[in-house]
Amino acid sequence: MTPLSADNIVLCGDARMVLPTLYPSIFDAVIVDGPYGLGLTPWDVGNDVWDPVFWSVVARTLKAGRYLAAFSAPKYSHRLATAIEAAGLSIEDNIPWLFGNGVPKGGRLKDGHDSIVLAAMPGQKRPLNIDDCRIPYETIEGASLAVNTHLRKSIKRGARHGGGLFPAAKEKIVSPHPNGRYPSNVLHDGGAETLSSFSGPEHRFFYAARLRGTERAEVSGGHLTPKPVSLMRWLVRLLTDPGERILDCFAGSGTTGVAAMIERRTVTLIEREDEFVASIRARLERGALESSM
Ligand SMILES: C[S@@+](CC[C@H](N)C(=O)[O-])C[C@H]1O[C@@H](n2cnc3c(N)ncnc32)[C@H](O)[C@@H]1O
Repeated sequence: MTPLSADNIVLCGDARMVLPTLYPSIFDAVIVDGPYGLGLTPWDVGNDVWDPVFWSVVARTLKAGRYLAAFSAPKYSHRLATAIEAAGLSIEDNIPWLFGNGVPKGGRLKDGHDSIVLAAMPGQKRPLNIDDCRIPYETIEGASLAVNTHLRKSIKRGARHGGGLFPAAKEKIVSPHPNGRYPSNVLHDGGAETLSSFSGPEHRFFYAARLRGTERAEVSGGHLTPKPVSLMRWLVRLLTDPGERILDCFAGSGTTGVAAMIERRTVTLIEREDEFVASIRARLERGALESSM
């Protein structure tokens, strides 16, 4: 984990005011989990995230062809995406992160996913880091498909006898990538309820569990909406290489910072509330402890 230093910085202030003071085109990725606009806390309003002017202030600091990933409540992801697009970025994907522990709400469907809008700056687009975000194969007979030659041979035999596989698929199965399956644009929390809704093996999708009550308080210093470190690490790996610089201008409890530092990227965090800034600094300083998460 990289230390909290002149490279990894936490700035206190309103992102709208702070970002114009930074050099242009300095970030290799922007990863943000801003307000959802649901009004669940005093800061959870949509003024910034639904405003194209806000995203042009962010975009000024992002390099050409690089990515911005922004979390949203599903019902407002269209507003977020439209504002980001109006600021000149192209919308590349909308990734659901599925979870099973949403709370029932009288007369409405309960929440089952958050959305992650993935957008790119104009310019020569950098390919995503697919190989760093592959999904490890399930273990069968004590070994992963990637190393279990016995299993691979029997799959190959089955395929030769009309095992229902296209030649290209057969080739992939008998020569699997050592890092695992090609990742898809669906993520999930790995909970029993979510897994029971899949008909195939859960291993096809990357999973990151939502934090529960006590865990949440422990890692976040009391912040109400921390994201799991493993989820943010996956996004960090997907969008950047080691040594590159990431911006999170809605830092909250600083999870993006922890993830970036574990993955050996550098990070600039901006958070408006003093109390959260103090706990981000404390969290990043004791970050070595979290590098195992
Ligand atoms: C959803 S939380 C981020 C949670 C974070 N991903 C985590 O894992 O802890 C959003 C944060 O953005 C902050 N915020 C809202 N508007 C802001 C603004 N204009 N500038 C800076 N911070 C802002 C809020 O205080 C809140 O802590």
